[in-house]
Amino acid sequence: MPKCIIDGREVTFTPGQNLIEVARSAGIEIPYFCYHPGLSVVAQCRMCAIEIEKMPKLQTACSTPAAEGMVVKTQSDRVKKNQKSVMEFLLINHPLDCPICDKSGECDLQDFSFDYGDPHMRYTEERRTYLDLDMGPVIKKSMNRCIHCTRCIRFGDEIAGIHEMVAVQRGNDTEITTIDGLPLMTEYAGNYSDICPTGSLTLRDFRFKKRAWFLKKTPTVCEGCSRGCNMEVQQENNMIYRCVARTNLDVNKHWICDEGRFNYQYAHDADRVVEPALQTKSGLTLSDWTQAIRKAKETVLGKKVVALVGSDLTQEEAGLLISFLPENFQGISIFHYGTPGVHSVKDDGHADKILKMKSKTANLNGLEKLGLKGFESLPPGTQAVLVFRGGRAVVPELRNVQVVGVGVFNKPQAEKFEAVLPGASFVEKEGTIINFEGREQKFKRAILPVGQSKMLSEVLMMWANRT
Ligand code: SF4
Ligand code: SF4
Ligand code: FES
Repeated sequence: MPKCIIDGREVTFTPGQNLIEVARSAGIEIPYFCYHPGLSVVAQCRMCAIEIEKMPKLQTACSTPAAEGMVVKTQSDRVKKNQKSVMEFLLINHPLDCPICDKSGECDLQDFSFDYGDPHMRYTEERRTYLDLDMGPVIKKSMNRCIHCTRCIRFGDEIAGIHEMVAVQRGNDTEITTIDGLPLMTEYAGNYSDICPTGSLTLRDFRFKKRAWFLKKTPTVCEGCSRGCNMEVQQENNMIYRCVARTNLDVNKHWICDEGRFNYQYAHDADRVVEPALQTKSGLTLSDWTQAIRKAKETVLGKKVVALVGSDLTQEEAGLLISFLPENFQGISIFHYGTPGVHSVKDDGHADKILKMKSKTANLNGLEKLGLKGFESLPPGTQAVLVFRGGRAVVPELRNVQVVGVGVFNKPQAEKFEAVLPGASFVEKEGTIINFEGREQKFKRAILPVGQSKMLSEVLMMWANRT
């Protein structure tokens, strides 16, 4: 592999890698704002300028590929002076917003100001100000904080495939906005907040809810469709505050869609059934585990039963059911279900040109690998149905049968069920899913199950009286 010298250290690189990435691979930080590994390189903030031997002027590391024998200095006086100057320039209009800014604690501008800026400011003129504005339901913009790095414009053009973010006016009056001030149209708008290196574009849903440094982060995999984008769940005190994209160049690169980003919200939904419940004369009524399991057994035992296994269940859960159900229900038929119109992996496919897939559950491929067939209709003579659901699968309409629900349901979904045994959602358990390409991904538990919800293995043990 070719080698170059950075700050006196020999570093190997892959041809084509820029100096920011090569330095990063050796643990050397070159600060930057406009560069983003998933976007085109524009080299306009100048924060990444470094010194290269035999070149008279500083060079931008983001736009300079490493070359064999290149000698680079990232810590020289000239480099440090440039960094101080760039920070001073970027901060002349920046308000002292950190104490009330949602980006605080994870803001590149804040961190680099501390690490590379000058504590003294010469600017005495009045700062320009803008009103904070909603840009549709997902993003709020605070243009006072913008440093015009144009990452957002490039994300719209290059990734979301929609030219909706633009820079209007010039010089001191430059402003990032949507064309004609329209709301953002992309279904990937949350990424604008992820990639903005300042607090200029923030998630409306997250604003003023929690300081970033209190959040505990768990790497997970999105259950929103069969792609299985990598994401991070951020919570405190068993309450999830947001999900952000996690880079996996083979699956989702640096991005997630809004549906996946906000999908976790059902875990805390007030309508979710999180206590055992059973049907009474006054409708579905909250109960306890003993009563609810008794009612569930009365509903299904001795009857011709069908089990519907949501393709939002993990491999481990589905495997457990495939061995448990035939042992406990003679002649039971087991099918998977999940997305209307997607009965098998053959029906799955791309739902857009970016990430979304047609299957709105994460483990369709996995369940088919376990040998389950897609549900089309109830076999003649079916008397009762056991519905297992992880939280995403769309329960088919079930007529003239008694139903027991095991897993995650909300009150309207469960109102006609004979019993509900509440289960853990994807953020409350760990497991394995297999995406549409056959990629096996494991995810971890981020929070404890809400209310009295239990892991499927615990519910089955209670059912079998093994607790
Ligand atoms: S809004 Fe954020 S991402 Fe867009 S140009 Fe300003 S600082 Fe950069
Ligand atoms: S594309 Fe699918 S897996 Fe990726 S974030 Fe969206 S819903 Fe989740
Ligand atoms: S990151 Fe290189 S010029 Fe902005």
